[in-house]
Amino acid sequence: MNDKVDIVLPCTFVIFGATGNLSTNKLLPALYHLEAAGRLTEALNIIAFSRRAFSDDEWRNHMREVLADKIKGKQDTPIFERFIARFTYQKGDLNDVETYKELARRLPSEEACSATVFYLAIKPAEFGAVVRNLEVVGLNRPRGLNRVVVEKPFGEDIESARMLNQLLHQHFDEEQIFRIDHFLGKETVQNLLVFRFANTLIEPLWNRNFIDHVQITVAESIGIEQRADYYDNAGALRDMLQNHLMQLLTVVAMEPPPALEADALHDEKVKVLRSIRPIAKQAVHAHAIRAQYARGVIDGKSALGYQQEENVASNSITETYVAAKFYIDNWRWRGVPFYLRTGKRMPRQTSMIAIRFRHPPQQLFRETPLETIDPNWILLSIQPDESMRMEIHVKQPGLDMDTRMMQMNASFLKTDEEALDAYETLLLDVIEGDRSLFLRFDEVEWAWRVVDPILKNWAVEREYIPTYAAGSWGPADANRLFDSDDQTWRNEL
Ligand code: BG6
Repeated sequence: MNDKVDIVLPCTFVIFGATGNLSTNKLLPALYHLEAAGRLTEALNIIAFSRRAFSDDEWRNHMREVLADKIKGKQDTPIFERFIARFTYQKGDLNDVETYKELARRLPSEEACSATVFYLAIKPAEFGAVVRNLEVVGLNRPRGLNRVVVEKPFGEDIESARMLNQLLHQHFDEEQIFRIDHFLGKETVQNLLVFRFANTLIEPLWNRNFIDHVQITVAESIGIEQRADYYDNAGALRDMLQNHLMQLLTVVAMEPPPALEADALHDEKVKVLRSIRPIAKQAVHAHAIRAQYARGVIDGKSALGYQQEENVASNSITETYVAAKFYIDNWRWRGVPFYLRTGKRMPRQTSMIAIRFRHPPQQLFRETPLETIDPNWILLSIQPDESMRMEIHVKQPGLDMDTRMMQMNASFLKTDEEALDAYETLLLDVIEGDRSLFLRFDEVEWAWRVVDPILKNWAVEREYIPTYAAGSWGPADANRLFDSDDQTWRNEL
């Protein structure tokens, strides 16, 4: 995609929060994969920044340890050594301006290299201190070249998102700000654009005349790991649905943009979000369901309930599962329900978009052994297997008029290819200044607006939350979202 802010490539990439979860699990492995793919320029240095004490060598050893099992493919020793040689480590306190003065001293002079990326892999509460202090020491300049990457959650509701946005704009220009939603970097999600807009076969069917409903599922078997601090205040609606699932919905539902440019894409996505029918206060129960995992069994191993997790209060009512129904009131989608659900501690790690088509209008096979014909599906698996499946009817060979469902599978990867995580694409885009796959603020704002009635309703209903057993597909109650009896959750490809 294009729309680069500038072609000046950064010489320094600063990771604030380098020892944290996000950095260890996503950023560092992704940067290594970019190294292995030969996509990092020779001049790029990386500064790992955190509160913990490490010398440069200790940090590099730490990376050897933590990355050992996170790198895809065979780890190549010379490449790995070249990669870790790019790093230096800085210990510091995010609230202390002296820290930033030291950081500024470590950066090359503007004449030598004028672009730096600051990646905020830190708690949202710390964003303010970082952007303020970067400005104090002049690191918010050169405008347009120094970039700041902001991770979700972008605020915790519409008001705090606006405040955070104002704060960023006090210190950085819009073109310097990269708001990340890493689901947009996932192969299948980008593939969805190609699938929809590069195949004439599909586009005529992609509307309310043919599609019965859409399901978007992001199921995770992991729990909250060591993130209780953050998660217990966020919950599944803020952590996943307002951003990742809502982004998937926009990519499924948007109109073709006039060009594959950042603003054109954002405009179309915003139109979808603006067309989502607001949920009336009294209709929240009919549109959204929350639940929390209780003890259970996953993969034959017993799993704790959410309230028994470390640092979670034993009476917490934070939701770890949410399912919701939305309608998009435009010409293409009016009347087609979009069912979204996500949960932790479900049986499997699986994310997919399932499109169910309508029943044929004519009951042509009524007089044959076929009683009812199951509708067609298109299933797009986002992870773990990036693939597409179409389910269509064929006649069974034989004397009777009987059919069977045939599944046409297309794996996006060839057998010798391995999927990268979304972060490789996105980090490369940050480095190259391409903002197409990053969020514009109005997208974030509209997504908050969509979920706002649910948040407000749940904020006052604080006595009780239903549970589901860890290892199950969530509460049975989630079935009541469906508009008709023949709609059910699709758990498998
Ligand atoms: C993050 C959420 O944004 O996405 C996590 O905060 C979640 O709770 C993660 O586990 C899922 O992303 P992925 O790419 O690992 O499926």
